[in-house]
Amino acid sequence: MDHFLYRDGVLCAEDVPLAEIAAKVGTPFYCYSTATLTRHHALFEEALSGLDHMICFAMKSASNQAILKVLANLGAGMDVVSGGEYARARAAGVPGDRIVFSGVGKTEGEMRMALDGGIRQFNVESEPEMAVLSRVASEMGQIAPITIRVNPDVDARTHEKISTGKKEDKFGIPITRAREVYAAASSLPGLKVIGIDVHIGSQLTDLEPFEQAYLKVAELTETLRADGHEISRLDLGGGLGIPYARSNEAPPLPLDYGALIKRTVGHLGCEIEIEPGRLISGNAGIMVARVIYVKSGEDRQFLIIDGAMNDLIRPAMYGAYHDIVPVVEPAPGQPQARYDIVGPVCESGDTFAKSRDMPPVQAGDLVVFRSAGAYGAVMSSEYNTRPLIPEVLVREDQFAVIRRRPTYEEMIARDTVPAWL
Ligand code: LLP
Repeated sequence: MDHFLYRDGVLCAEDVPLAEIAAKVGTPFYCYSTATLTRHHALFEEALSGLDHMICFAMKSASNQAILKVLANLGAGMDVVSGGEYARARAAGVPGDRIVFSGVGKTEGEMRMALDGGIRQFNVESEPEMAVLSRVASEMGQIAPITIRVNPDVDARTHEKISTGKKEDKFGIPITRAREVYAAASSLPGLKVIGIDVHIGSQLTDLEPFEQAYLKVAELTETLRADGHEISRLDLGGGLGIPYARSNEAPPLPLDYGALIKRTVGHLGCEIEIEPGRLISGNAGIMVARVIYVKSGEDRQFLIIDGAMNDLIRPAMYGAYHDIVPVVEPAPGQPQARYDIVGPVCESGDTFAKSRDMPPVQAGDLVVFRSAGAYGAVMSSEYNTRPLIPEVLVREDQFAVIRRRPTYEEMIARDTVPAWL
């Protein structure tokens, strides 16, 4: 459930009509709902109640300072994957002991930054990384708390580009080698092994792969404990999917996911961490764009809008589906029109949907891309020298611009022309 609903015939974000925001900030823009972010966080809290747990928001999905603050104020931790994300989390007021550092290629600089500023744990992904982290921590007179990310060789049954738990994927260490890698880690002076980490992929619409992975983690916990390791924390990653096509998708609920966690690893007495991104931010955000032209092709109608692949790349990159709806509520029983919905960027890949049936719209009308709060703004670029689009946060009847649109001058001023030119 989200808080983008038609009221009196117009689509609103909580209590604010979207047309009002569009008039103030221009289009296209991203808009987030505080109530939806809060609700989604609460769903995970409820799902894990009774377990010693921490929800570490995967801020790669949405990393605006204001969004991080909403979640941090609710007690969320953060899952970061770069020095930049670490800096953002700290700038939003998240204490170091609520930040976990994931990622397959952490640099020495990033390790130093996190050790210096404070970190809950590093989720280490390889033996070379272990060696570097141990050396860096020792040089700093510290001992780095770590989990080791295991690759359980489980098929997450999701899009190939966001599947991460198969043996051919670059992530983690093979679970079959876990005993020797844990033995090696515990012999390193700068590390303290505290647990196991796993993350098998994103947009999972079935609980079965989670179950397979978590059962393997449970078994590994017992094995490693028998080997003498302290395993007191399990980081179970993120990945729970969301409904993108509301009419016909019903992915598992956080409550069922929580029950699965309790069933598979609840008996081990470990502290449980999860790293959800999309389920918290995805349906808490939309992208609003304006129709520039309706153009008749030989055998189809093109809806040319002012948002483009640089603003929301998911359809071009993954063939992802987003519901696209008009801001003015269609009259009941209104016949549908069929459009190819495209942006102005100069490549055919700049297509959001082909042969999409939706209520008829005209040049000047506003349309909304639903479920764009995760991996939307964070993956945008300035391709075609199109400015990064603004982000707006709504709370009840108030809204605020949380990232403004840069001017062309600001964009150009970031370049430097050498003196010899
Ligand atoms: N933890 C780790 C280690 C991850 O790699 C990810 C996502 C998450 C947590 C959060 O997963 P979530 O709960 O959001 O599914 N750009 C793609 C998604 C990439 C996901 C990468 N890793 C998309 O737009 O679908």
